[in-house]
Amino acid sequence: MFKNWKLRKKFTAILVGILIVGLSTLAITMGLILKIATENQIASKAQILMETMNSVRDYTNSQIRPELIERSQEEFLPETLPTYSAREIFESLRNNNPEYRDFFYKAATLNPTNLRDRADKFEAEIVERFISDPDLKEVSDFRNISGGQLFFIARPIQIKKESCLECHSTPENAPPSVVERYGTTNGFGWQLNEIVGAQMISVPAHTVVSQSRQLFVVIMAIVSSIIVSIILLVNYLLNQNVIRPLKKISRVAEEVSVGNMEVDFEELGKDEIGNLADAFRRMKLSLAMAMNRLNKR
Ligand code: HEC
Repeated sequence: MFKNWKLRKKFTAILVGILIVGLSTLAITMGLILKIATENQIASKAQILMETMNSVRDYTNSQIRPELIERSQEEFLPETLPTYSAREIFESLRNNNPEYRDFFYKAATLNPTNLRDRADKFEAEIVERFISDPDLKEVSDFRNISGGQLFFIARPIQIKKESCLECHSTPENAPPSVVERYGTTNGFGWQLNEIVGAQMISVPAHTVVSQSRQLFVVIMAIVSSIIVSIILLVNYLLNQNVIRPLKKISRVAEEVSVGNMEVDFEELGKDEIGNLADAFRRMKLSLAMAMNRLNKR
């Protein structure tokens, strides 16, 4: 079938084939690259926040707590708790910067002292994963919530120090000021080395994702219009330089073949088609001479 097609159709079919294969390959590879780049960009934001929060916790533990330990025997000072300072600092970041309003930090805990740290269903599943696989040190993924897509990083919270149990083992062991404030039901019964919760950082993903979608559309549009212009240009050049001159030659050859010696092959330049026209012209001359000779006899 392909053999019987006209030149222009053949070329157009080949070029359109290249367009389709080329564009789909580009779309697949670019989709993958953009996905990885987007994920890296979002993940690095979450990672920096996570490390910052852990530094805040370290600072509270190593510098604030020792300074205030004596005062905290008399009255409860939540400021001396790493969990408390990390959350307060994160809240202040969110409240003072509208662009961070959709960022979240939580010490999601199965049996929390402060009920607002209680893990929701989704977070509880992650905590269970950390409990069942103690070698798992981090989980990260996208999560869809009503406000849009979030990316989260979760790390296990493990009770590594005996000193934690002072407040988190039994109400009898805990400082009375803590019990007075938080009651006797929540945040007790934790064991040494137990994984009690997960530290979660969530950052919004929708702006970065939609930016990378826009980039994808723009690049695809530019590349498609370049390829379509090339197809149109090749079509035009093929028509001007090959198809039209060939049609002229075959029209004249047709006339000559039925005995019309008045028509002549045009000068078509010095390219291969021009050479063909020249050869035809010489052939027609020889034919005319041969016919003259025959007619004279
Ligand atoms: C002086 C008592 C005390 C000590 C010691 C203590 N905590 Fe707490 N912890 C608390 C209180 C009180 C809260 C609730 C603070 C709040 O209002 O957010 C809390 C909250 C937490 C939370 C957040 C979840 C929840 O229960 O609300 C985690 C996680 C936590 N502590 C882990 C630890 C670890 C790990 C250690 C040891 C390094 C430790 N705590 C030592 C009193 C203590």
